[in-house]
Parts: sequence; C-alpha cells; structure tokens
Amino acid sequence: MILVQISDTHIDEPGTLVYGHFDTSLALTKAVATINAMDPGPDLVLHTGDIASHGSVARYEAFKDIAGELKAPLVVIPGNHDDRDALREVLGGTSWLPTTGDFLHFVVEDYAVRLICCDSVIAGDTPGEFCPDRLRWLDEQLSEAPDRPTIVALHHPPFYSGMTGSSAKGLVRGGGEFDALLRQHSQVVRVLAGHVHRPITTTFGGTIAIAGPTTCYPFGLDTGPERLLNIVHEPPSIGVHLWLDEATPAGADLVSHVVPVGDWDAPITLLKNGRQVLTS
Ligand SMILES: [Fe+2]
Ligand SMILES: [Fe+2]
Repeated sequence: MILVQISDTHIDEPGTLVYGHFDTSLALTKAVATINAMDPGPDLVLHTGDIASHGSVARYEAFKDIAGELKAPLVVIPGNHDDRDALREVLGGTSWLPTTGDFLHFVVEDYAVRLICCDSVIAGDTPGEFCPDRLRWLDEQLSEAPDRPTIVALHHPPFYSGMTGSSAKGLVRGGGEFDALLRQHSQVVRVLAGHVHRPITTTFGGTIAIAGPTTCYPFGLDTGPERLLNIVHEPPSIGVHLWLDEATPAGADLVSHVVPVGDWDAPITLLKNGRQVLTS
C-alpha cells in the first residue's frame, strides 16, 4: 500500500496570492502533477488539514477543482484555517469527507493499513485539542480492530517541534490523554499530522509521530531566541508512506519518505533490476 500525504494547501480564491506572495493553487496543481506521475501511483491520498487559507465555500470549490485531477482517491481532515460548516457544505458525505457529524472524523477501512482521521480543531482558534468526546470516539475506533495496523491522522502535531517561532504545542488540551490512549493500542504504526509546514519526526504515544511537509510555503527551522517564524524558499513536498507487508526480513512495517515537488531534471539511472547501468 502506498499512502501519499499532502498538507496545508492553504487554497485561496482564484487569482489571490496568499500573503501577497504565494499562488497556493498553482502549488497544489504542481503537487497533483507530481502525485499523478508516481509509478506505481498511490492507493490513497490523505490531506492533513488547512485545506483553505480561510475556510469558505468558494475556496473549497477551488480546492475541489484542482484536487479533482488526482488519479488516486483522496480523503481530507480539517485544520485550524478550515471552516467546518463550509467544508461540510462542499465535501461532507462524499468519499473525500465521509461524514457530516459535529466533528469531521471518520475511519477508512479499505486498505492494508487502517486510517483513523481525527478532527482536532477548536473553531476560531489556532491550536487544537482532543476533548473527552473525541478521545472516547478514538478509543472506540481503535478498540474495534486491535490487530490491524493503523495510522491515526490529525491536523495538529501533538508534540513540541523545537521551532521557537511557533513554539506553542499543537494541542492545548487532551494531549496527555491522547498519548496515554495510544499507548493502550499497540496497533498504531504512525501518527500523521500537518500544521507546522515542514517535515518533523519524533516519538509520541509509544509510536512514531510525523508532521508532514506542506505543498505551499514551508516554514523555516528557526530555533533561536528571536523566536522567528519565517517562510523559507525550500521546495514544497509531499509525504509518501509505504506499507511493506512482506518485503522486509523483520516483517511488515510502514516506511515514510519525503518527496520534494518541482520541475527536476530527468533521473540518472545507476542500477536497473540489480544491474549496473552507469559506472563511475
Ligand atoms: Fe497551515
Ligand atoms: Fe494549521
């Protein structure tokens, strides 16, 4: 199974540059082209939130037009820049967002790795939370299939990034309970988040947690006392998570990669089918 993660697309209305600089629609178009060019292509694409720069029906319609070009199925979860009502109106109840509940959370059962998509949004606020209702729901979903490898996805990373400019923890409430809950469910092979606009990996809840890269404007790795939050000119990227069910001597495992999006020169092949193509 190949799962592609996109995040923080921050789509604005057509013709608008975010922060006066960034054509996020063009950036998503390029990411879609990169994903569609994968061979083999992904089984599923997961969007870990901040779909729009500011949630609105017009922006979600614009997102739908661009992301609709994906060859692979797509599912989305909300971020702090999203608006649940507008998202529900445009995508609620579709295969991209198969729920219309108060919280936009759902489970994808169709693949080798089960995917539990959580809604960590506090409406009108930047950080997220796991309230008792959402923790209970997550516990119920995890308890239903204790033997299936599972990814838990949410927008807000539940860990500290070490970036001093955006040092606030992603979850202001429920992070400790979320950590404890995951430790009770050893089938969780990965926690996938977004929000921080750059790839970050650490441990959380007895498993591996990754904040995925963004398809639009990356944030810099600033760790100094000035507490800068810079947008940097690194390439946007996608996450590619490979479920290796029989391929490794150690058995099944999930391996996570970061793939930059851009117009690169053609690859230079060194090996093909184990045979040397180019010698030094
Ligand atoms: Fe974002
Ligand atoms: Fe965010």
